[in-house]
Amino acid sequence: MFTLTLKDFEEARARIAPHIKHTPLLTSQQLSDITGYDIRLKAECFQKVGAYKIRGPLNKFALMPEEQKRRGVVCSSAGNHAQGVALAARIHGIRAVVCMAENATPAKIAATKGYGAEVVLHGTIWDEANEKAKELVRDQGLTYVHPFDDEQLIAGQGTLGLEIIQDWPDVDAVIVPIGGGGLIAGVSMAVKSHNPKIRVIGVESSDGPAMQASKAAGALQTIECNTIIDGLRVRRCGELNFSVVQRFVDEIVALPDKEIFEAMIWVMERCKLVVEGAAAAPVGALLHELVKLPAGSKVAVVLSGGNLNLDQLRGLKWN
Ligand SMILES: Cc1ncc(COP(=O)(O)O)c(C=O)c1O
Repeated sequence: MFTLTLKDFEEARARIAPHIKHTPLLTSQQLSDITGYDIRLKAECFQKVGAYKIRGPLNKFALMPEEQKRRGVVCSSAGNHAQGVALAARIHGIRAVVCMAENATPAKIAATKGYGAEVVLHGTIWDEANEKAKELVRDQGLTYVHPFDDEQLIAGQGTLGLEIIQDWPDVDAVIVPIGGGGLIAGVSMAVKSHNPKIRVIGVESSDGPAMQASKAAGALQTIECNTIIDGLRVRRCGELNFSVVQRFVDEIVALPDKEIFEAMIWVMERCKLVVEGAAAAPVGALLHELVKLPAGSKVAVVLSGGNLNLDQLRGLKWN
């Protein structure tokens, strides 16, 4: 069964450390006062490319055989995975192709190109863009980089958990957003390899709780997914990730998009941090008292990224 040890995460960290930031754990007096816990925010919104998503590809590319590197890599994403793969590939001198749907946001296309990737626009939804990526694997021999269900990728994402336990060794609980489950798979194994008693809590949108549904059913489920939050929008989680979640994640809570969006504004206003919806979900779970822990618990909250589509904020009242 797929399990990574503390040593695996330490090795991954050594591979990627020269290229990433060790992001800070910020105290939040307001969130601590409201919840009665001692809250610290893992500000991964300050990471290179604006999200944790560079960690996994950096680890994967460092381990890639030269011959595979020469042929290049491909992924399909219009979000943080695209930018993470693009910059990590550039750092490792690898050609990267990113497939996106034709209606992808121009800012995301520009950002991905800015990190040096070739962008191929195909179809109108992710599935069609993904078909194109698979075609490039067949025709050009590129290596496909999955957004969440890949052992080396999970090891890289988990280095975020290693930083948390290094900076706060007696942390009691860690709260992590879940999309396909790659981040929580890595983080849960990393923190529990340090102390198995650390409680790991996942957060999804209740408008598309693919992991919660799978956990409840005891088998991977494909759900109807209505969340509009980038990063949390997954119909079926990864198999590796589901197996890890079953063994290492204590609880999954879910709240509606609307409350996650409100939490995003709350973090901006109160903490002065720009976070995207996925990253605000754990804060939303705390504000809505979905997380029940003993008073005074030391809780790390993963603010996984800050790549917000600012168009979402237009229309809010000015002043
Ligand atoms: C900012 C952010 N947070 C959380 C997630 C969810 O991560 P995962 O799909 O590994 O569960 C994503 C995924 O794209 C993301 O971009």
